[in-house]
Amino acid sequence: MPAPWGLKLTGVGAALPEKVLTNQDLTAWMDTTDEWIRERTGIAERRIGGSTSGLATQAAQRALSDAGVDAQSIDQVILATTSPDHVCPGTAPAVARELGLDCGAFDVQAACSGWVYGLVVANGLLLQGLERILVIGAESLDRITDYHDRGTGILFGNGAGAAVVERDDTGTGQLLGWDLGSNGNYVHILYADHGDVLQMDGKEVFRQAVQVIQRSAKATMEQAGVEADDIDLVIPHQANIRIVESAWKKLGFSMDKTAMVLERTGNTSAASIPLALDDALVNGRIEPGDLVMFLGFGAGMTWASALVRWNA
Ligand code: COA
Repeated sequence: MPAPWGLKLTGVGAALPEKVLTNQDLTAWMDTTDEWIRERTGIAERRIGGSTSGLATQAAQRALSDAGVDAQSIDQVILATTSPDHVCPGTAPAVARELGLDCGAFDVQAACSGWVYGLVVANGLLLQGLERILVIGAESLDRITDYHDRGTGILFGNGAGAAVVERDDTGTGQLLGWDLGSNGNYVHILYADHGDVLQMDGKEVFRQAVQVIQRSAKATMEQAGVEADDIDLVIPHQANIRIVESAWKKLGFSMDKTAMVLERTGNTSAASIPLALDDALVNGRIEPGDLVMFLGFGAGMTWASALVRWNA
């Protein structure tokens, strides 16, 4: 159900580690080519280095500064990550500590769908009376990626994106519809065991992703009562350009109205959607009143979509 009052994203920030790992770099130790990777994935380079908590803190500080609010005004920290600093505890408390906060802080582990899960959870907490929440997606996937495995090493990178999410008493900004889903029968197609690296059946992930994207986008559009043409910008999880293009053909979305940063970030899992959101805002691609669709999918499998009317 859409919230009876508004939700607005008042500040967004991103952080990428400095070290760039290009496709060309990978060819030094892997039997692949820049051309193959670009053609099959849409990726040219990814970033490595840094830590999940460090990148998350940097993105959060930038989001706070963009919103023009003090960290002390934050009521809750939600951190979506699939590469936490430790197996236990969660990484969100360390991020809260770095921001000088002792409010509630917890991780969301829903792989690449995590940030959209976090946004929907934030909406629920705002309904419960909280005022202002940090929703962060941050990853240091280099810790669980084998850069010698050409099936997975070409895809993943590090990064973080964060948004300050708050109640919008003017009612302009709204969460108009959302959908969260999972299918645990597909755990085996993309997973990492404790202390091990990511294992993936790329073809099956591709096939399933194209299906669940369509299913989730349709569910959210139906709930919100909108058609594909009504949506001003779609911000999908940045996994593979061909996954997006395949799903878009069936959904009637256009690439012109799609935010992509994949080419220079690779797949940054839970960080990818807020990274693309930040890029879209920096490039003036979102206007007040626009309908913006967030669309995540990934390991689990999980999927998540949320349609937001952008605040003034
Ligand atoms: N460089 C060069 N050649 C490669 C290669 C690489 N990095 N990886 C595989 N190949 C070769 C294979 O050996 C195979 O050769 P063959 O035809 O001689 O046997 C050929 O390319 C095709 O391999 P295939 O595994 O069928 O490639 P693909 O088109 O499925 O592409 C992925 C592989 C990983 C790029 C693709 O499956 C994919 O992106 N899947 C989705 C993964 C994803 O998005 N995961 C995250 C979800 S959140």
